[in-house]
Amino acid sequence: MTPPVKNLESPAAELRDAFERPLRDLRISVTDRCNFRCTYCMPEEIYGEKYKFLPRAEILSFEEIERLVGIFAGLGARKLRITGGEPLLRVDLPDLLARLAKVPGIEDLALTTNATLLARKAEALAEAGLRRVTVSLDSLDESVFQQMNGGKLSVAHVLQGIAAAERVGLGPIKINTVVQKGVNDHTLVDLARHFKGSGHILRFIEYMDVGTRNEWDRTHVVSSAEIVERIAAELPLEPAAPNYRGEVARRWLYTDGEGEIGVIASVTQPFCGDCTRARLTTEGKLVTCLFAADGVDLRAPLREGASDDEIREHIVATWRARRDRYSEERGALLQVEGQRDPRRIEMYQIGG
Ligand code: GTP
Ligand code: 5AD
Ligand code: SF4
Ligand code: SF4
Repeated sequence: MTPPVKNLESPAAELRDAFERPLRDLRISVTDRCNFRCTYCMPEEIYGEKYKFLPRAEILSFEEIERLVGIFAGLGARKLRITGGEPLLRVDLPDLLARLAKVPGIEDLALTTNATLLARKAEALAEAGLRRVTVSLDSLDESVFQQMNGGKLSVAHVLQGIAAAERVGLGPIKINTVVQKGVNDHTLVDLARHFKGSGHILRFIEYMDVGTRNEWDRTHVVSSAEIVERIAAELPLEPAAPNYRGEVARRWLYTDGEGEIGVIASVTQPFCGDCTRARLTTEGKLVTCLFAADGVDLRAPLREGASDDEIREHIVATWRARRDRYSEERGALLQVEGQRDPRRIEMYQIGG
């Protein structure tokens, strides 16, 4: 029999999934909109002017997010990451951050952004209590960059955003680069050279089969091992220990002391065993894996007047039943025709 939920109020660490993984991180998507149209996430052909994004009434309000975060924090969540779509498109985002920064138990508050609106917003974000930003930037080469993001805005906008974030202390700043073979992999060393010595941490992400919108194929992936090899051939690297258990990126230090890079090997060296991440979609679904077929609706109980205890029960039951380890299973699943189809959640709904 499942033990009563009340036992979880303290110590929080008791909540574990079916593989004994605790719930430590909560990634919250605050909007499904984006001012980019990355080909691997929101291709322009599908997300053109006529595409209907979620109406306001379907999106969780700040009050609702704050309440849920309080409940998640009570269950062990310590780290929050605000994502999207592009989270800086959400009106009054600093108000939400100020609320979340005060939730007891929350130790880290970070945001993933494409940085194009950061130059204008960095100061207000920092004042509200945001600790740090992670910026997506796939290439410094203007034509490659535009090809990947759908021809929206330029590299200069992103670099200005990064500079603004640095000025107001939103660091350590991480730069995320999705690597697609034959698309941007010839520009990786330039990126490394650019950020070497800057204090920012560049991380290369293996291209993944998230969502249903990209025509992912294993042959589009450049392995992290190869990425490291290519960078190290020009800028010598040595491996470094993780900062914390379950860190997604493997760290590599420049041997001359000028900082580090990271590689996120979700395809070639999956890290599901330590995955403590829960995700909350814009419309309030709890998603237990980046590759889940669907989530558990928390908005309905919220809006139907459920108590905190009742909502907690939904979360606890979902987490206890969690058996997700998609990246570890991918190889076997891809052998079987049609196995990938159940996935319905797109990257812009859960923000990576
Ligand atoms: P910090 O260590 O808190 O700075 O963040 P992080 O290492 O979790 O990195 P971030 O949140 O920026 O994630 C970087 C990228 O890694 C995401 O955009 C995803 O592409 C990938 N990623 C993050 N979490 C997962 C995960 O649980 N599963 C898989 N397969 N990929 C993930
Ligand atoms: N594979 C790997 N990373 C991806 N991202 C979006 N789609 C993919 C994918 N298919 C990255 C974005 C951003 C972060 C939120 O996730 O580029 O850095
Ligand atoms: Fe927008 Fe990020 Fe998706 Fe690109 S990957 S379209 S920046 S949400
Ligand atoms: Fe976690 Fe799913 Fe990613 Fe594995 S594939 S690390 S379980 S989100």
